[in-house]
Amino acid sequence: MIYGVVLAGGIGSRMGNVDKPKQYLLVGDKPILIHTLEKFYIESEFKKVLVLCPKEWLAHTKNLIRKYLGDTGERVVVLQGGDTRNETIMNAISYIEQSDGLDEDTIIVTHDSVRPFVTQRIIEENIRYAKEYGACDTAVAATDTIVCSEDQVLISEIPERRKMYQGQTPQTFQALKLKNLYQSLSEEEKNILTDAAKIFVMKGEKVHIVEGEVFNIKITYPYDLRVAEALLKGNEGC
Ligand code: CTP
Repeated sequence: MIYGVVLAGGIGSRMGNVDKPKQYLLVGDKPILIHTLEKFYIESEFKKVLVLCPKEWLAHTKNLIRKYLGDTGERVVVLQGGDTRNETIMNAISYIEQSDGLDEDTIIVTHDSVRPFVTQRIIEENIRYAKEYGACDTAVAATDTIVCSEDQVLISEIPERRKMYQGQTPQTFQALKLKNLYQSLSEEEKNILTDAAKIFVMKGEKVHIVEGEVFNIKITYPYDLRVAEALLKGNEGC
């Protein structure tokens, strides 16, 4: 079975002094989370769409989903997130394990709640590649040259641009495999492996690349809100 897993457990500290986590801010006439959820809600391959949010925002999130999607828990399930992004994903896997059980065919399509411009094509390719390879990650080829610095002062390396990609989401995994790999990590490794796809890569597992879109942006800073407003206006009438 395949599940959509929308990660909304963060507090959006880089957005600055706003009265709510960034996933609840409006872009156009709807909260960012709702724009994102609409893309997941219409994907018929999902048995359920899980939304994970901070504990104190559970009731608000359920209200929004009722108001905008008319769903009262039939298909969209709201759960508490974890202290880290990976812990939030683990909470989703625990829910699936308890409610439906986990097997080799259980796939989770994990997505940042603050990437509202994801497309159906990206979601469907994630599902297809995860079925085939066990794990995949959405990325776009880097257009800028990427420079590395060990000390944030001097450049230590300039990798070949053609090998560089910028990671986006969704990231899609066989849930059982991700759970087992995550549980095999030491606390120290957990602190380093903050990206779920990296867990697979570090453990020598194949992760297939799904081609993303440059407009599949993550809303992180106040500037991104202005970009998102412009992108939304540009999509109107499409
Ligand atoms: N996320 C989550 N659970 C956490 C932390 C993050 O589900 N414990 C989610 C966020 O809600 C967001 C996504 O992961 O949709 C991407 O993370 P990021 O942009 O870093 O969000 P925040 O952690 O909220 O932002 P910041 O780092 O600025 O505090």
